[in-house]
Amino acid sequence: MKRNVMRWVIHGVATELFHNMILRTFRRVRQNFFATDEGRLELEKGVRYRQPSKREIAVVTGATGGIGSKIVHDLALRGYDVVIAARDATRGEELATHIRDLVAVTPLESVEESSGNDGMPTISFIEYHADVPQSALNVALSIKDSRSPLSILINNAGIMGKSKKLTMQVNLLGPAYLTFALLPLMAERATRTTPPTVINVASSAHLRATHVLDDESPLLEKNNDGNQSWLDILPSVSDNDLSTYAQSKLALMQFSTILRNWLPTSDPHIRIVDAHPGLVWTPLLRDHTGDKAVRLLTWTGLANLIYKSSSEGAQAIVAVMDSSQPTPATRNQVYYVNGEPGGYASSESASFDDSIKLWKHVLAPALEGVIDLPKGWGPKYVE
Ligand SMILES: NC(=O)c1ccc[n+]([C@@H]2O[C@H](COP(=O)([O-])OP(=O)(O)OC[C@H]3O[C@@H](n4cnc5c(N)ncnc54)[C@H](OP(=O)(O)O)[C@@H]3O)[C@@H](O)[C@H]2O)c1
Repeated sequence: MKRNVMRWVIHGVATELFHNMILRTFRRVRQNFFATDEGRLELEKGVRYRQPSKREIAVVTGATGGIGSKIVHDLALRGYDVVIAARDATRGEELATHIRDLVAVTPLESVEESSGNDGMPTISFIEYHADVPQSALNVALSIKDSRSPLSILINNAGIMGKSKKLTMQVNLLGPAYLTFALLPLMAERATRTTPPTVINVASSAHLRATHVLDDESPLLEKNNDGNQSWLDILPSVSDNDLSTYAQSKLALMQFSTILRNWLPTSDPHIRIVDAHPGLVWTPLLRDHTGDKAVRLLTWTGLANLIYKSSSEGAQAIVAVMDSSQPTPATRNQVYYVNGEPGGYASSESASFDDSIKLWKHVLAPALEGVIDLPKGWGPKYVE
């Protein structure tokens, strides 16, 4: 077995299964045995509490999807004004109404904290297509007029098993367009309470990929003369073996590496974090499992044992915001797995040299003329 496949099997799939099937089951049993009567009732009823409104904005992409919709709920309970950035207006508006209703019936964590504050976050929808660069600018425009700080961007939208070109557009370029469109707003209005944070939703699948760019590609030699984009040289076949999905997630993490190295670490420092939600039973996975297997896994209840629910996947992402103290400014890789920093990431994902190559041949040409990069952006930009 190749080294990269081996590390994915061990540090991705096996670790995740161990976490879900053993550690999680043990935790559930312990919670049931040792919870107080009140705690057990809360567990049964699923009672949670919400925090008063922070009057800070969080943008979540792909928010009508499995994990995304639960991230919206979690952030709203934490008091953030959440912008649902998604493709479908009807589903987006319905989700906004649904979350508003859920939040409205959720008790406040502390009654005293609500004094002087109506405590209700706002939930709004904005149309967003990760494969359309202009969409990122529209999201920025829609937030610009609000006076609230923009504290969180979660690049969650993602696809798997589609054409190789679309996979890279949605999983890599979309997050790059949106991040650069929103970075100025995040920096301008940074607060002391929430460190402005960009979370790129990564995947342990990145461990399967050793490179994003094909070293044989003529583009690398020609240094990209602008006549042909890297996307155009991708084969137009479907990503049946999910190799492009793995590469797109590696590329997304390399994009984070670029940001961490080139954004200033002085105030206001913008945290750039990669977070893997775990193996989560959402359409993304189900669509690639086969109808028969899906029916069997669901019917036997095995799906609940093997996979995380969408809510658990969302918690693993939103846990990034739990560090009560802003993390010190860092250029080191920050990768969350199962809601904890320090997950196993590949050396390629943290490689600055590989990341620069990606920047030079893919990201820079794609962003040029579409999005304004920070003034002086590049190696000289660091303070
Ligand atoms: N599920 C897992 O086990 C797992 C593991 C590791 C990482 N992840 C990552 O977690 C993220 C969320 O995935 P999920 O499991 O929640 O899958 P999902 O239920 O399929 O959700 C994916 C979301 O992405 C949106 N999306 C797809 N193409 C888009 C485009 N062109 N523009 C804007 N939005 C688009 C979808 O929009 P529609 O609602 O309009 O379809 C959907 O809301 C993805 O980045 C995925 O790679 C998932």
